[in-house]
Amino acid sequence: MMNKKLKVVMTVKLPDGVETRFRELFNTTLWLNKDPMPRDKMIEAAQTAEVLVSSINDRIDADFIDACGEQLKMIANFGVGYDHIDVARAVEKGIIVTNTPGVLTEDTAEMTMGLIIAVARRFVEGAETVQRGEFSAWSPTFMMGRRIYGKRLGIVGMGRIGQALARRARAFGMQVHYHNRKPVSQRISDELEATYWDDLDQMLSRMDVVSINAPGGPNTFHLLDAERLSKLQPHAILVNTARGQIVDEEALAHLLRGNKIAGVGLDVYERLPGINPELFGLPNAVLLPHMASSTIEARTDMGDRVILNIKTLQDGHRPPDRVIPAML
Ligand code: DGY
Repeated sequence: MMNKKLKVVMTVKLPDGVETRFRELFNTTLWLNKDPMPRDKMIEAAQTAEVLVSSINDRIDADFIDACGEQLKMIANFGVGYDHIDVARAVEKGIIVTNTPGVLTEDTAEMTMGLIIAVARRFVEGAETVQRGEFSAWSPTFMMGRRIYGKRLGIVGMGRIGQALARRARAFGMQVHYHNRKPVSQRISDELEATYWDDLDQMLSRMDVVSINAPGGPNTFHLLDAERLSKLQPHAILVNTARGQIVDEEALAHLLRGNKIAGVGLDVYERLPGINPELFGLPNAVLLPHMASSTIEARTDMGDRVILNIKTLQDGHRPPDRVIPAML
């Protein structure tokens, strides 16, 4: 006999195919609006839903969790990052939290590598010049960027995405360095020929390119503050596809405006809405709208992962992608 379908409420619009599958498997209320669900509506939903499907746009803090009804069994996050969820409070209240690890690793690493090259080789500036009809002849001194082959890449956070980026960087002839809470296994270190730095400041001051690939949350808030950022070399490029709050955005804009670093590639920002306007209009800032995992494949796989977690719960088992306080 089939288990009773769980009452699932989505706070986020997902690709149509994923939503259809949700409707087939669960008693699902879709959120068809492209804008995130307002907080009062979310609280309302959390008082009737057995599963809430959330995203990074939702602030699931202690107050929100306290306002959830007793019937809420699970918050199934559509995304790998869970820094917007007070997991400890949820677990205390007996609510399971799940995420979507693994399925967006390659896409995020791909985008990060792309950003590194885009900044170093001035893709956006060059493309805009052509679009404006300003390109008429090749010139030996026009649009000179910087080669990345043979350069040192410092990865801050050597989890799945950091390692996937390192593999790509090796293929592009970069030397991989990294800072992490602890070194990666010998096997991975050998494969990537990676150099571990326990001292982040030391690493930052020696790299040509630095990429942030650490999780967000209180442990990494402003990990790159003004003082740390000042360690970067004037020719260095900083790329962040992880979480905006890891970098002090104001200090970063200040460095960039003062030509103290060569360029930035950002996919994430400290505050949304409210990107620091000092970052706008700079030719050496490639700014993307948080799209690192935005491929049809990743977004479908993320949806499938959320479905798997809910279906496992519906079938009476423990969902595979539970976030547990020990992971925080
Ligand atoms: C995540 O999954 O946490 C990304 O930031 C959004 O895809």
